[in-house]
Amino acid sequence: MRDRVFSGMRPTGKLHLGHLIGALNNWVALQDSYQCFYGIVDWHALTTDYADVSMLRANVTEIALDWLASGIDPARSTLLIQSRVPAHAELHVLFSMIIPVPWLERVPSYKEQQQQLADKDLSTYGFLGYPLLQAADILVYRAKSVPVGEDQVAHIELTREVARRFNNFYRETFPEPQAMLTPTPRLLGTDGRKMSKSYNNCIYLSDSPKEIRAKTRTMITDPARTHRSIPGNPDVCNVFDYHKIFTPAGKVPEIDRGCRTAALGCVDCKGILSENLVLLTQPIYERRVGWEKRRDELDDILEAGCNRARVVTEEVMQDVREAMNLNYGKR
Ligand code: TRP
Ligand code: SF4
Repeated sequence: MRDRVFSGMRPTGKLHLGHLIGALNNWVALQDSYQCFYGIVDWHALTTDYADVSMLRANVTEIALDWLASGIDPARSTLLIQSRVPAHAELHVLFSMIIPVPWLERVPSYKEQQQQLADKDLSTYGFLGYPLLQAADILVYRAKSVPVGEDQVAHIELTREVARRFNNFYRETFPEPQAMLTPTPRLLGTDGRKMSKSYNNCIYLSDSPKEIRAKTRTMITDPARTHRSIPGNPDVCNVFDYHKIFTPAGKVPEIDRGCRTAALGCVDCKGILSENLVLLTQPIYERRVGWEKRRDELDDILEAGCNRARVVTEEVMQDVREAMNLNYGKR
């Protein structure tokens, strides 16, 4: 039996290029070697966006479409919606009995996010429990590996501590999962700031080739290169950072030289980049358009995924209830 992998994403909107290179491409590759469970973690989205739930349903659909378009294959992976698999919540509530509050207060993202999202009241019980719910997501599948970026390492470490504490109190029930680190090259938005919906500077996986070309044209370059004849400095240029990720490595030194000698102008440089971006995203765009026409099939895929997830997690929960002496009553 292949080891299980679990990973999740919060449905907060359309996915962008950063999600593809920082997560999805790796998720797709893992499908060959693992039993993969990929969760749309809508309860986690609620931990910060509880006050406005108007976009939740649409966001769940968007993320599912983006996943399928990127190559997540429902024949090999289980795609599930967290809130449709109640065992995530049951395990979370049991963990909440045994985990000291200071363990959660110590997780660095807790205070960081409260500061960053100061416009939201994140003094809630649910927000404090965010990493514990994440631990439940992972352990309820007995996943051994969790493909995530660097920013999630503290959450996986907590997950291991939760598993250890449970196993010590009761009996050996959970493996200690490992973070499977995905290198996440820093990808800024088209204006050079952090890529974010609120800045309107994202390149989305669902953008058409036409949109990709238009967005690439507006990218900020070396600000000192005010004229075509002035040589540029690729080291301070966001477009060049993109070349390092999306242009075949053999072609990058040529661009570097062309920029420094002014043989290459910014318009042409961006043209090369946009063609490479289109090569990557056009197949995704086309598959997405195809799936958009087959919404029924999409619903069936998610339903089948949730059904399978319920079966798998119920098996684990039976062991958990037994370990905690909760296996009484008629079922
Ligand atoms: N916290 C993760 C993020 O923000 C999302 C997530 C929720 C997750 N549950 C998970 C990731 C379980 C991996 C495993 O990216
Ligand atoms: Fe940036 Fe390319 Fe212009 Fe150089 S030529 S400044 S790398 S966009």
